[in-house]
Amino acid sequence: MIEKKAVGEAAAQYVKDGMVVGLGTGSTVYYTIQKVGEYVKEGMNIRAIPTSEETKMLALDLNIPLVTFAEVNHLDVVIDGADEVDCHFALTKGGGGALLREKLIADATDLFIVVADSSKMVEKLGKFPLPVEVTPFSWERTARQIEELGSIATRRLNGTEPYISDNGNYILDCSFEVIENPEELSQKLNRIPGVVENGLFVNMAKIVFTVEEGKVVRKM
Ligand code: 5RP
Repeated sequence: MIEKKAVGEAAAQYVKDGMVVGLGTGSTVYYTIQKVGEYVKEGMNIRAIPTSEETKMLALDLNIPLVTFAEVNHLDVVIDGADEVDCHFALTKGGGGALLREKLIADATDLFIVVADSSKMVEKLGKFPLPVEVTPFSWERTARQIEELGSIATRRLNGTEPYISDNGNYILDCSFEVIENPEELSQKLNRIPGVVENGLFVNMAKIVFTVEEGKVVRKM
């Protein structure tokens, strides 16, 4: 919790008056969003697009003005968490189920900032099962096709019911153990019919805030 707060707050310094900001999802970026709420309260003109319904509720609670892609095309900065960050700063995301909107929003900026406590930093991705969002129709066949790429694909549950994403889809948590080439895997996954998006974010992060030896560090 202390690390999450430290990195989450450190990233908030990139949010300036007049900006349109993408707000990520999860317990780390939560602290960034709290800071953005404080900036708004102090009178800064900030508008935001949330990456999930959960973040939307949080932003509304904090009176952060929200916009949609009907009004804006480009975001000044996007700040989000990650489930794993590898040594080339490729990410696994989607532990919170928001990977599709997270990727759409990260794609809309030139400044995608990741906030990740030290437990998220890994040499290679893969220990954390890769979330893949799929259409419910024929999800079983899509899962089998994903398994042919060398994983075990498990449909995420919410209690005993299937977990449904904000977009009305299922999430498959796919254990690959080690992902040697995230870019290649991402392309292969997205070529499978029924895959809406996968949780690999390759060459997208511009800055990563993490903690090393008890101190917040900025990578890249
Ligand atoms: C949600 C995500 C989150 O960014 C990721 O799961 C990290 O969450 P947390 O900061 O709670 O560890 O990708 O879909």
